[in-house]
Amino acid sequence: MSESASVTCTAPVNIAIIKYWGKRDVERNLPTNGSISVTLSQKALRTTTSVHLSPEHPADRLWLNGKEDANASRAGTRLAKVFDLIRRLARQEGNPRAEWHAHVASHNSFPTAAGLASSASGFACLAFSLAKAYGLQAGNDVLSGIARQGSGSACRSLFGGYVAWEHGYEEAASPEDEDFGSHAVQLADEGHWPEMAIFVHIVSAEKKTVSSTSGMQTTVRTSPLHTYRAAHVVPARMEAMRQAIAARDFDAFAKLTMEDSNQFHATCLDTYPPIFYLNDTSRDLIQLVHRFNEQQGAIMAAYTYDAGPNAVVYIKREACRAWLDAVAALYRPANGLRANGDAWFSDAHDEV
Ligand code: PMV
Repeated sequence: MSESASVTCTAPVNIAIIKYWGKRDVERNLPTNGSISVTLSQKALRTTTSVHLSPEHPADRLWLNGKEDANASRAGTRLAKVFDLIRRLARQEGNPRAEWHAHVASHNSFPTAAGLASSASGFACLAFSLAKAYGLQAGNDVLSGIARQGSGSACRSLFGGYVAWEHGYEEAASPEDEDFGSHAVQLADEGHWPEMAIFVHIVSAEKKTVSSTSGMQTTVRTSPLHTYRAAHVVPARMEAMRQAIAARDFDAFAKLTMEDSNQFHATCLDTYPPIFYLNDTSRDLIQLVHRFNEQQGAIMAAYTYDAGPNAVVYIKREACRAWLDAVAALYRPANGLRANGDAWFSDAHDEV
């Protein structure tokens, strides 16, 4: 039998609290603005990826949730780019496996492409497990820069806890820097804020109709609100959010999180033609959070929505029971609404 290598790894999703939306360099996935996220526990939402390397494989192949994705072997695709960058590093490290190809099977424990950051955990897991299979020396910051080229938000899933991906205004010194230099950094680890918990409310498991890749570039081209947001709103919010996290100031954290989610979806509406990611149930939950906070007499919960209708609620741990009661009450038959999804509970957690 000829030589080969196999590994299996898992990676968590991360949910942005200051949203990345828009590329200033499409080729290299460099963002129009910085972003900050919280990495979720892998207990409920995770990607599991198995890699098999062999000199006998004539090309890279990848199966996602059991279905082959032909982009893995199609030059110039985001998937092919991740494989190529990993092999480039392997060559630079003088690695004997550098010319081998990979067969990859990847599986998500949650709905794929439904606005739940499946591309974040997916590309983070791909970069990380390929690196392990090739036996690379590179650290998570370099792998974060590679995962970024698959999906921008993926660069943040290489780290647990509270994670920033800066805009990186300065020009890269070389193409090499542009490939690996823009990567995420951990602001605080997963143990930093034990008083906070996270609910993921599945409103719809359907695939989104507008992918984030195409949606964000239509926004960049057509939305004056996005231009203003990237230049004048996000830089100050990044700083305020860093401070809120460092001080574990839930009031500030929650308000910034909700404001930023609202503004991101406003830029989607300001896109021409408009993009609608939220649905009636998403909007019911937004109103419920505001009503809940009023009833509690303090900000106890904050919602955020990615490119889809599913709600992620950051909440003070002491308010979890009351929040679940409030959600259950919203869906009593008397209210005419029917619950059609699951709720997952998570800590801010876990590295790859
Ligand atoms: O990483 P992408 O290209 O799937 O874009 C993610 C965009 C949002 O999830 C809406 C925001 C974010 O920062 O994760």
